[in-house]
Amino acid sequence: MSINHLVSIADLSDLQVDSLLARAHEFADTTPRRGDLGSTPSACVQMLFYEDSTRTRTSFESAAARLGYSTCLVTASGSSVAKGESLRDTVLTLQASVDPTVLVLRHPENGAPAWVAQGAWCETAVVNAGDGTHEHPTQALLDALTLQRQFGRDGLAGRHIAIVGDIVRSRVARSNALLLPRLGMKVTVVAPPEMLPADIAEWGVGSSNDLDGVVSEVDAVMMLRIQKERMSAATRLDTHAFHAAYAMTTERAARLRPEAVVMHPGPMNRGIEISDEVADGPRSLIVQQVRNGVWLRMAVLEALAVGRG
Ligand code: NCD
Repeated sequence: MSINHLVSIADLSDLQVDSLLARAHEFADTTPRRGDLGSTPSACVQMLFYEDSTRTRTSFESAAARLGYSTCLVTASGSSVAKGESLRDTVLTLQASVDPTVLVLRHPENGAPAWVAQGAWCETAVVNAGDGTHEHPTQALLDALTLQRQFGRDGLAGRHIAIVGDIVRSRVARSNALLLPRLGMKVTVVAPPEMLPADIAEWGVGSSNDLDGVVSEVDAVMMLRIQKERMSAATRLDTHAFHAAYAMTTERAARLRPEAVVMHPGPMNRGIEISDEVADGPRSLIVQQVRNGVWLRMAVLEALAVGRG
């Protein structure tokens, strides 16, 4: 299976989603280590990160290493981006020096990866590793993989997930809202009114302001971080009120169905959207999400490298 770019979940056909998840399950079952797969074609993965990252960055690097691909990392600070070099000039420079097969791009502006992928000057396969408040497709795919490993490969249809918190600023919520219904899941986004996007009616998912009203009805909850760095200076946030109504506390977790699971893409703000007891408790899939991110990104990088021959 090959894909050209991965900018949005909407770029993928149902067949491509199924193939990527199937391949990621294979990797999860066999847990290949560095050097186990002397892959052909050998590829080079250029990581270009204009925003901070721990999980996404290291899991792409680990995925590439396990496939036998080389990587090169450029971050905004410490590169000529800090001197004002444009995104196009930076990509052209990397193409001339590194000649990457795949470009993994994280950027604060919505649409930056799509803009690069569409450029006549772009010679690489582009993966969106998070663009502004827009999308984070590999996160949604690893979340789907994690849910399938929990509930079974054919076990998602009819399951209900609540995605809770700062929805309006969350690229993770947006990509999951596009992906999980295609796998048969019922999605309800839950947030205070000011954290729900104005266009929520067009998302094609349920929405609620009442976490206590939905908590006992779901098979999974995905808690999100409050994205303070994306809030305007004028936005006043009452963290205590948010915590009281929307945090996954021990008391709320006790009202979940017995088999329900708790997820979080990280980084967590412990004590704000999730308590220590829940984050580290038996329902938590948070560490598995990170682990599954490696297998899922192996499948994505492989499909992109195959596409580039
Ligand atoms: C998220 C991101 O950067 O979009 N984290 C991640 O990639 N796992 C979510 C966040 O920053 O809150």
